[in-house]
Amino acid sequence: MLMEPFVTQRGRIVHQDSLTYMRQAMADESVDLIFTSPPFALTRKKDYGNVAEDEYVTWFEAFACEFHRLLKPTGSLVIDIGGAWIPGQPTRSLYHFELLIMLCRKLQFHLAQEFYWWNPSKLPTPAEWVNVRRVRVKDGVNCVFWLSKTPWPKASNRRVLWPYSDSMLDLIENGYEAKRRPSGHDISDKFQRHNGGSIPPNLLAIPNTESNSYYLRYCKERDIKPHPARFPARLPEFFVRMLTDVDDLVLDPFGGSCVTGEVCESLDRNWVCCEVVPEYIEGAKGRFTGMPSENNRSEPDYYKIYSPSALWDSDSNDDILPEDGGQSRPQTVNHDDAAAAPKVTNGVTPNPAKRLKQPRLID
Ligand SMILES: C[S@@+](CC[C@H](N)C(=O)[O-])C[C@H]1O[C@@H](n2cnc3c(N)ncnc32)[C@H](O)[C@@H]1O
Repeated sequence: MLMEPFVTQRGRIVHQDSLTYMRQAMADESVDLIFTSPPFALTRKKDYGNVAEDEYVTWFEAFACEFHRLLKPTGSLVIDIGGAWIPGQPTRSLYHFELLIMLCRKLQFHLAQEFYWWNPSKLPTPAEWVNVRRVRVKDGVNCVFWLSKTPWPKASNRRVLWPYSDSMLDLIENGYEAKRRPSGHDISDKFQRHNGGSIPPNLLAIPNTESNSYYLRYCKERDIKPHPARFPARLPEFFVRMLTDVDDLVLDPFGGSCVTGEVCESLDRNWVCCEVVPEYIEGAKGRFTGMPSENNRSEPDYYKIYSPSALWDSDSNDDILPEDGGQSRPQTVNHDDAAAAPKVTNGVTPNPAKRLKQPRLID
């Protein structure tokens, strides 16, 4: 039996299959932004069920047809989607790229821009390929596809600016001699204008480390299982700010714990979240009942990210790569030694003379 919708000042959580809800209850061209993280095609399934990789695109298409119908011509569809590994081998599924191709080629969405959500706290998985055999690196990003119904969705990057760097502030204050660069680019004096901040790239650094939020405490006190695949509020917040105005309507058809709704409520956007699992809705209510306003300022304002060359040494003599590409497991695995030279490798002796350069940091 379906629960009654949970209604707030700005929005509602609907306990219903979103495909049915969209078909029955939502008008053409009524939505400004669809922001969602659908169930991914995961090898290791979550509690709420995931669609198999080979059925994924077909399954998604029915939802996507509705998304297209519901969006205003100025509207956007933003999909946060993680990649997946092919079971039993260290290669990647193409399912999310196939999804993107279907959305654009078949349903005529436009790819406004692809973003990458980098989660700096992501664990190194799958451990077998990353930690044990050391033949792949950490999968640290999700793709976030920003699609639109026309090539001209409403948007402004002025809503999501970064602080200027010290060198840029210096340049703005003290000037720059306008001249042509060796690349041929003309650096004009327009660089000297203070535009409120610098324009961010399409890489969003957002940790997913919620551990003591009001939502989690609310769930714990009521013995409700928290949603196992929540995204951090900063992710929807970036796109809600950049792509919608106050009073616009935002839909999250795979609402989960309703992070999207919480963000919209605090930014005065109207919203609808659909979710099929009643327990997730029970937990989501905590985001709106007696909720202290929580602006997670415990997260850092910026991250340092190394140049790939930070530990390269021009005269280092690298270990020999495993001829079999990691097909056989190493006999011993040292999990603690982060910089362990691969003790791996089917009879190949690692080079004891390996020397690592000390990294140099510049803020
Ligand atoms: C990846 S989770 C979303 C998590 C959410 N972004 C959050 O931060 O809490 C996907 C959710 O979609 C729900 N779901 C799957 N199929 C659905 C459908 N047809 N209609 C509504 N919800 C659905 C699942 O139960 C799951 O909670």
